[in-house]
Amino acid sequence: MSLVVMIGTSGAGKTTFAHRHFAATQILSSDAFRGMVADDANDQSATAAAFDALHYIAGQRLAAGRVTVIDATNVQRPARAQLVRLAREHDVLPVAIVLDVPESVCIARNEERPDRQFGAHVVSRQHRELRRSLKNLDREGFRRVHHLRTPAEISGAAFEVEP
Ligand code: CTP
Repeated sequence: MSLVVMIGTSGAGKTTFAHRHFAATQILSSDAFRGMVADDANDQSATAAAFDALHYIAGQRLAAGRVTVIDATNVQRPARAQLVRLAREHDVLPVAIVLDVPESVCIARNEERPDRQFGAHVVSRQHRELRRSLKNLDREGFRRVHHLRTPAEISGAAFEVEP
């Protein structure tokens, strides 16, 4: 039983990856929760309320023994710490999936997206946060850290969910 925590900058492909491997109902996306609480998936002022709701639903799912995937950037340590705590509270394994995609690729992808208006500097900041995060994920309490660095590693990943 795992809480799967996606980690990666905007444009890294977290949503795409999560939906390739998990059912839509298993994936809790920060964008979707911003949409639910504020009618706008991009409304950053709704972040606190969105995560409050996301954590609540994640807790309900984990209490019921349901594999849950968190689709958010999670490049900041406090965000990850809340998720590790939640997993521990429910006695499930926190697992990190890092999509470590070059900054230039993420920026280029976001430029093509009508739903992403923020500038390249946001992705650059997230990238710096990700680099700082990488060496400490084990110590933060993640029981498995899958650091996917190449397109082949990302497209070749497979999950086996054991009963
Ligand atoms: N994309 C791509 N090739 C991939 C993965 C994603 O071209 N291997 C494209 C998607 O089609 C989308 C964009 O990159 O247009 C961002 O993908 P998404 O999965 O939404 O990335 P996230 O990391 O979830 O981005 P965000 O945090 O901004 O939601």
